[in-house]
Amino acid sequence: MPGRVEGADEPRELPDWFVPVAEDVEEYCRPRPGVWVDLGSGSGGLGLALARRSTSTVLLVDPNARALGSGLEAAKTPGLAGRVMVIAGVAESITLPDDSVDLAVSRGSIFFWQDPPQGLREVYRILRPGARAMIGGGFGTRYPEWAYTEFFRRRYEALEAEGEEAKRRWDEPRRMEWLVGHARVAGLGDLLLSPTPPTRWLLFEKETT
Ligand SMILES: C[S@@+](CC[C@H](N)C(=O)[O-])C[C@H]1O[C@@H](n2cnc3c(N)ncnc32)[C@H](O)[C@@H]1O
Repeated sequence: MPGRVEGADEPRELPDWFVPVAEDVEEYCRPRPGVWVDLGSGSGGLGLALARRSTSTVLLVDPNARALGSGLEAAKTPGLAGRVMVIAGVAESITLPDDSVDLAVSRGSIFFWQDPPQGLREVYRILRPGARAMIGGGFGTRYPEWAYTEFFRRRYEALEAEGEEAKRRWDEPRRMEWLVGHARVAGLGDLLLSPTPPTRWLLFEKETT
């Protein structure tokens, strides 16, 4: 059966996806070192992966203070301490100045924002001119095909158990048209760049004037 991992008695552990996503961020955003933001970071999987691969200061932003605490704990390693900071807050109202960050990323979070266009406007506001944002969800171009397939098999199995409405609620925001629609409402439609990494990402760059 597709997606089944043959020979495994126990469900096989899926490999970490943050490094492949970080590789895509580097490739598609080409950020300059400086201040980088992971919005809706949770415990900072993507932000920490980016911090480990750079010399930048990484700000984790999330309304969940407990998740941010876990991110700070995980950042207590040589090379990261002092370069990872947290801000408790939401994408729709980011407590950072205009034109202040060299990269903004957000993985798996916009689907939960109360007001996605307002969050996207905020991302645009805090970007420095010429800096890029990659906002959406996915596993990274180099994530193994078997693991991607297996993730979705498990997810849909769980959603099937929850019912049609749960499946629809999960699927709907994860369509590219949903993301692009919100970008248009935010006034960013003409600034969207392509290609983006496969799966569901908005890529845009702050205009230089
Ligand atoms: C599915 S988790 C993704 C976490 C992490 N980015 C990852 O890739 O594993 C969604 C995260 O979005 C956060 N979130 C929910 N509403 C938000 C908002 N309005 N602004 C920013 N983050 C939000 C949640 O607290 C949660 O940590």
